[in-house]
Formats: sequence, structure tokens, C-alpha cells
Amino acid sequence: MATKPIEDHATGAHAAPMTSRDLISICDFTPAEVESVLDLTALLKERPADFRGALAGKQIVLFFEKPSLRTRLTFEAGIHSLGGVSFFVDQKHERLGVRESLSDVAHNLERWVDGIVLRTFAHETVVKMAEYAAIPVINALSDFEHPCQALADFFTLRERFGDLKKVKLAYVGDGNNVAHSLMLAAASTGSHIAVATPKGYEPDAKVTAQAKKIAAKTGAKIETMTDPVAAAKGANAVYTDVWASMGQEEEAAERKKIFAPYQVNEKLFAHTEDGAVFMHCLPAHRGDEVTAQVIDSAVSVVFDEAENRLHVQKAIMLLLLGGGMRRFPLRGAHV
Ligand code: CP
Ligand code: NVA
Repeated sequence: MATKPIEDHATGAHAAPMTSRDLISICDFTPAEVESVLDLTALLKERPADFRGALAGKQIVLFFEKPSLRTRLTFEAGIHSLGGVSFFVDQKHERLGVRESLSDVAHNLERWVDGIVLRTFAHETVVKMAEYAAIPVINALSDFEHPCQALADFFTLRERFGDLKKVKLAYVGDGNNVAHSLMLAAASTGSHIAVATPKGYEPDAKVTAQAKKIAAKTGAKIETMTDPVAAAKGANAVYTDVWASMGQEEEAAERKKIFAPYQVNEKLFAHTEDGAVFMHCLPAHRGDEVTAQVIDSAVSVVFDEAENRLHVQKAIMLLLLGGGMRRFPLRGAHV
């Protein structure tokens, strides 16, 4: 299904129901829809048996150009637990669109299956697939966004702290795909996010502007800065990600030097609010972006985040493929 470019996404309600839409960016959901995703996630987590068979008869294909543990397995486990069928296509050895055009791939897939889950290098690949295919496309990580991760992370924060409007999240490290989706999710949920990156590694300016535009309506606070201590001050959660993302392996040594002051360690964590948690999308590199003392301590919620990938992606698939809001009427639904 066609998705509008990021600039065009209004923060108001979509006229269309959620079925047959895509999730390429967090901005594909209105703030009310994000809330509905989180509400449905809570139900799915609490009462999984009530949803067995909700995707019965649905077939979903996963194309991954990059490695994955969590995303692949949580999608596959989620599809199967809802009664659907999944196919995994390993695209690590050849990027999509090389053997045949992306549009031909899309027009084949839409004849066979009900949904496409894509992990790509270029964000453009997932945007174009969504444009060409007449079935829902879900971004399972591109070089620009990781929306399923951010939704699971904000669900994790809501489980811990309740009202997301009272939460301050500090993101420390690279202004990458995960940072982008977290900023947009913070904007949608009315949270406060402070993103601290080295100069030259800031989040994309378009994402920051979009997050601030959404924040103007939701009451969120979006801050970017270079000082990790300023970001961590008073935070309820400190989040970091790898310093070199998949595809940036050759920059790893140089990045290690640049990002060293951005390591999340006990000294940085000491600036947070009482009860603060540590977050990471995983995989993590202990001794680089986070010390073992922090990630392996009681403040770490990294495995809650990983678990919640399963529940939130089930909610996303049900809303996009499984009958939409009409079947699961929740507060904030615009159908
Ligand atoms: N967090 C995450 O997306 O993990 P994988 O790369 O293992 O899927
Ligand atoms: N920023 C990381 C996230 C991995 C889940 C990457 O893109 O490799």
C-alpha cells in the first residue's frame, strides 16, 4: 500500500481504517493509533489465548537483507501464535531489486500472500515496496527507522511508569534508525526525549523537525544535544544502541573513538531519576556503548523490551491485516 512521505504525515486522525495500511515509519500511525497499538499490545500480552486464530488463513512473507535474532523470531512466533503462516526469505546475499525490479517482486507477492515484512539497508527499498504492493508492508528495520522496536520500547516504558506523558527518556549515542523511531514515538506519546550524540552523528534534521511538529500537538518535548550528562539528568530511562549499525562495520574502529564519551556506565547512570531503567534494542556490545555493570544489573529492562517485540508486533499485524479497529475497538480508534 502506498505510504505518504514523512513530511506529509499529518498528526491528526487518518480517515482510513488501519487495515491495508503500512508501517514504514512511526509517522504512519497517528498519536491516537499509537495509543491503540499499545492498548491492544497489553491485551495480547495478558490474554494471548483469546487471539489464537486471529490471523487464520493469512500468509506473511519476511524478506531480510540483514541478520536478525529478535525481529525474525518475534515476527514468526507472533504470526504462528495468531494462527497465520510465515515464510522467511534470506536476502543477505542479494539485495532486493537486483534479480528483478522491486515493483515486479511486489506485484508477484501481492498475488500470493497477505503481508510483507521487510528488513532492508536502504529505507527507499521499504518505502518503494509499500508503494508498489497492494498489501500491507511492515518495516522490520531500515537504515532510517526501526518502528517496531520503538513501539515495543514505549510499551515497555508504559508498563514500568504508566503515564508516558510523565516519562523522560535519554537516548545516548548514534543518531541512527533506532534514535529516529524513538524520537517519533516519544513525540506521538507525549513523552520527553533528550537525544545526546557527538557532533556529526545527530539524528536526521527532517526527523527532528517532524518529531517537534507532532510534539507541538501532543505536548511532547524533543531535545537534541551533545552532552550525555545533560540528557541523563532526571531521566526515567537511558537508552543506547550500537555505535556502528549493520552496514557500517568498516567505520567501527573510528566510531569507537568518537563515541567513547557516550558510553552508558554507572557514572552516567548516576544522573538519572530514582527508579530509572536502562534500555537497549540489542544486540549489545558490553564495554563499548554500555558497561556490563549497567546492562547486566537490576536496572536493565533489555529482555522486557525483547519480549515486548513479540506482543507489539502481534498487535501491529492484527491492526494492519487482521480486521483492524472494527474488530478490536479501542480507545483512540478512528474508524
Ligand atoms: N533489536 C533487533 O531488532 O534485534 P535483531 O537485529 O536481532 O532483530
Ligand atoms: N542500529 C542498529 C539496530 C539493530 C537492531 C542497526 O541498524 O544495526
